[in-house]
Amino acid sequence: MSISDQDFDPVMDIVTARTGLTFPAVLRAHVATAVGQSVAQAGVLRLQDYAVGIASGAIPLDPLIERITIKETYFFREPEQYRLIGDEILAVARPAGGRPFRIWCAGCATGEEPYSLAVLAEEFGLADRCDILGTDLSVEALARARLGAYRRWSYRTPEAERVLRHCTPDGEGTHVLHPRFRQRVRFLRHNLWCDPIPVPEAGDGAFDLILCRNVLLYFGEAARQAIGHRLASALAEGGWLIPGASDPPLGPLPSCESIVTPAGLVYRRTSGGEPKSRLDPGASEPAAAHERFNPFEPDPSGPAAPWDDPAPVHSPIASDSAAALLEQMWPVPESAAGAEPPAFPHLRPARPAGATAAPHVPAAGGRPPETLADAERFLRQHPFDMQTHLAVTLLLTEQGRYAEAAESARRLLYLDPTLPIAHFTLGLVSKALGQPREAWRAFRGAVRLCASLPEDATLPGTEGARAGELTRAARAELRLLETTR
Ligand SMILES: C[S@@+](CC[C@H](N)C(=O)[O-])C[C@H]1O[C@@H](n2cnc3c(N)ncnc32)[C@H](O)[C@@H]1O
Repeated sequence: MSISDQDFDPVMDIVTARTGLTFPAVLRAHVATAVGQSVAQAGVLRLQDYAVGIASGAIPLDPLIERITIKETYFFREPEQYRLIGDEILAVARPAGGRPFRIWCAGCATGEEPYSLAVLAEEFGLADRCDILGTDLSVEALARARLGAYRRWSYRTPEAERVLRHCTPDGEGTHVLHPRFRQRVRFLRHNLWCDPIPVPEAGDGAFDLILCRNVLLYFGEAARQAIGHRLASALAEGGWLIPGASDPPLGPLPSCESIVTPAGLVYRRTSGGEPKSRLDPGASEPAAAHERFNPFEPDPSGPAAPWDDPAPVHSPIASDSAAALLEQMWPVPESAAGAEPPAFPHLRPARPAGATAAPHVPAAGGRPPETLADAERFLRQHPFDMQTHLAVTLLLTEQGRYAEAAESARRLLYLDPTLPIAHFTLGLVSKALGQPREAWRAFRGAVRLCASLPEDATLPGTEGARAGELTRAARAELRLLETTR
């Protein structure tokens, strides 16, 4: 069923009322696809009947929820945060009365996050002293989490080696976690927007550590604040609440101090009273936590871009450093040599089918889309598949369709704001479009994200490009933008 992207507002209002989720305009077409599929699956002919059906409960909302929830995750995502959890929290974890240390991963998607914590807890000698709960709205994600079997995309960072060593390969590209980790993590369906706080297995007390990372950015401001308050109320005294480093701030939370750390803004439950804030000595400056890059809105609390009135500079040529980097990310496949040169000669999305080497942009289903048409066809079935959005962004850039590439990069950043290569690509296309302010913010986003990775860390979404190289390339672009303004 094909529907115009305005017609489904009543449906999305019901989704927001039930889940708290909101969707920006940049994703409307993809949401419309998901709604159209769900209407067809429900066997009704008219969108209005579908809306009435989901409102009354006669038609289940779950198929649509499964289609529109963004379940992007991987092992040891945002490694700086795991360093904080290990060194500052687990290393000194002394839960009262010998009870287990209670951890809740709220919005855990397919389970990589709670399993990373289970591995970390074992590294800190707390294997049998942690009660780890993973919850999510998506039943399909939880079913996959319980299986504990993951493909390569989940192990895309060097830190994931720590998990891989506890896995058995099945010979078909899937790695299965050792059963002891599967036994240590409990999974439960839970709607953060309207369900009561879940109860830790060990007793009815509160949680010592709650992770709610890369979830609340998909909610509206009011919902985010309300959920932040509820999460804070679920903390034991001295307990920690850790949002994603790129998540919008939750604001002051009752009975909590806000602590700016090198791993972003985190919260800690105090014995009560007014919210406080504290600057961790390891953090560079208090503003750091607010310097988040939001690809959709101007960020008034962030640093001003060095432009007041962006001068329209149209420059389709990447700087040398960027070109060299991109060459490494997407080298020209041999079989494509001699093909029509793209506008960005160094930005190439994927090897053609049949190439012997591994694809440079892994895509859902294990194979990169060969053409834009392939990718778009795939997205009609899986409108929120991040790897395919990445491939589309690169294909559009390669074809010099910069405005569409920028829009696609913004979609990608909505799906995963922690992907440095998406920020960098948005920087390049914005620069090519003569939008230096946007380019500047995107390059800064790339630099900031890379700062939490080791220099030689392979960048997620690329094969072999290193965090240090992207940092240098993005810095060179920033310098260039500042000198040409
Ligand atoms: C991008 S994933 C984040 C996974 C993991 N926390 C991480 O940072 O890698 C966002 C998850 O939030 C879940 N989610 C969205 N709305 C939710 C809600 N109302 N209640 C619980 N989970 C929700 C989605 O199903 C999805 O699995």
